[in-house]
Amino acid sequence: MTTPFARDQWYVAAYGSEVGRTFLARTVLGEPIVFYRTAREARVVALADRCVHRRYPLSQSSLDGDNVVCGYHGFTYDPSGTCVSVPGQERIPRTARVTSYPVAEVDSFVWVWIGDPALADEQLIPRAPHMADPQFDTVRGMEPIDCDYGLLVDNLLDLSHETYLHAGYIGTPEVAMTPITTDADEQAGIVRVARHMMDAACPPFYAKSTGIDGRITRLQDIEYFAPCLYLLHSRISPAGEQAPVFRTEITYAITPSAPGKVYDFWAVSRDFATGDAAVTEFLRDFNHQVVMQDVVALNILQRALEAEPAGYQELSIGIDAGGLAARRILARLAAR
Ligand code: FES
Ligand SMILES: [Fe+2]
Repeated sequence: MTTPFARDQWYVAAYGSEVGRTFLARTVLGEPIVFYRTAREARVVALADRCVHRRYPLSQSSLDGDNVVCGYHGFTYDPSGTCVSVPGQERIPRTARVTSYPVAEVDSFVWVWIGDPALADEQLIPRAPHMADPQFDTVRGMEPIDCDYGLLVDNLLDLSHETYLHAGYIGTPEVAMTPITTDADEQAGIVRVARHMMDAACPPFYAKSTGIDGRITRLQDIEYFAPCLYLLHSRISPAGEQAPVFRTEITYAITPSAPGKVYDFWAVSRDFATGDAAVTEFLRDFNHQVVMQDVVALNILQRALEAEPAGYQELSIGIDAGGLAARRILARLAAR
């Protein structure tokens, strides 16, 4: 499976907290980019991570104020990517500049625009306001996976795998047993998948974090904003009661890095037990284990698919409706 890349889109490149006065290198849609923050305005700068002189990665350079001094022979670039000094001569070649990417910091993420900069409209960035809302406590991380990014989209849009891959963590039999409803707005590029379990076992993830002991009502409502942002709105309450409702917002940013490579940004935000360090530590560690189960499985799946003869067939069923809608949207966005 090779999912085409969609350009002229915003992608999450980092958490804002990862970008400072040292360089952060990330590759997005095959483009190596270096990120840093300016000294005075603390603004995020994103430049092509290859010096125009001999292609040395600028992420291996140093900062002189807000300018990047190439670590190989000293070509110096300002935050717009314009070369302002070269060694051994006064004259700076007119073509001495590196690409500067539009960036925006929204909801604790650093978003980068890949494509025509004239089309970069920040209003198009899909929102995850809970990520920066003090009413929620958030744990988060990022794992690179060596797989086609479409495999991660598939994985997240079909949570029936929780029952099998994440048994003993977030999966219970009811997840796989309960049918889904899917609603795709292919024009807007949004897929919604709902699975409402009215009487389900409580998996350790929620039992240990909420303290509920017994069966639960478990509502999963997914919103996928193609290509990058995925939200799982999770609502847990003791079965048969309406209140209290424990609200968990599970966020993923799915950023294709290169063919066969994806950045898996993950976060869990909760509106209960806020400020409780033990719950925070439990969720950070437990969810990281869950993410790593997916990382291991997707690495295995990618290798298996690479060994398949060309033209292999898949067999899709009802649980795949969300993933199939996402594939159609991604193909359309990539073809534009
Ligand atoms: S490669 Fe950067 S100055 Fe030579
Ligand atoms: Fe998973």
